[in-house]
Amino acid sequence: MPAPTSSPALESLTDWWEEMGVAVDHVQVEAYLKAAEGAESPPPQQDAAPAPRRRKPTNWVDEARSLASGCASLDQLKAAIEGFDGSPLKAAAQTTVVYDGTPGAALMVIGEGPGAEEDRRGLPFVGKAGQLLDRMLAAIGRSRETNALISNVNYWRPPGNRNPDEEELAVCRPFVERMIELAKPKLIVAAGGVPAKALLETPDGIMRLRGTEHVFTTSGGYAVPLIPLLHPAYLLRRPQEKSRAWRDLLLVEERLGELEGG
Ligand code: URA
Repeated sequence: MPAPTSSPALESLTDWWEEMGVAVDHVQVEAYLKAAEGAESPPPQQDAAPAPRRRKPTNWVDEARSLASGCASLDQLKAAIEGFDGSPLKAAAQTTVVYDGTPGAALMVIGEGPGAEEDRRGLPFVGKAGQLLDRMLAAIGRSRETNALISNVNYWRPPGNRNPDEEELAVCRPFVERMIELAKPKLIVAAGGVPAKALLETPDGIMRLRGTEHVFTTSGGYAVPLIPLLHPAYLLRRPQEKSRAWRDLLLVEERLGELEGG
């Protein structure tokens, strides 16, 4: 009698049993085969396509560079930064703080990174230090609403407002460089020692760097004059330093006048 099994191996086994005089229950063998098939077969297809698994880059700086270089506008760059998961700071931050102000302005101010208020509102320099920065800019006829772009060298708030470390700065740098290439400021003001040192890639502190003009150059060779300024948060703690900051602001005003051809 033909065996109702569909596996050639099992079929020859049951044939052999029968030859040896063993009574084979083919219905049971078939049931056994079906159960075994079910255990090996993939689960039934769901209607919804499974979510594609996101590739985890092995080198986040390379990933940032590749994302940044693919951006042709500040809006695209902002979206790329917001979607980027390569900063260890992102998980604890509430928001990604990218930029505020007037794209295309001659002046670009670059600070250290968001504090608590910036993290809450998703905008750079909107806390107490930011209010002082706005007043400093107003004193030389600049504002984020009309003729200044404001950003940072790091886009996520470090816990406890500590300084961003080298790795945290390194993953942001390709975005910072691309922002400068796209915004094309005529002059960068680095607000504080952290951005001044990071942008100029120097171990020198702010007291050594301030008071004079430097040049910031992207890895693609795009060069922009840069003037370091004492950080407004530092000026809030040490108002006696405001006269130095005022001298630096006058230098910024003078250089902007020259660079804008005024
Ligand atoms: N300090 C900074 O350096 N940047 C901000 O955005 C806010 C405070």
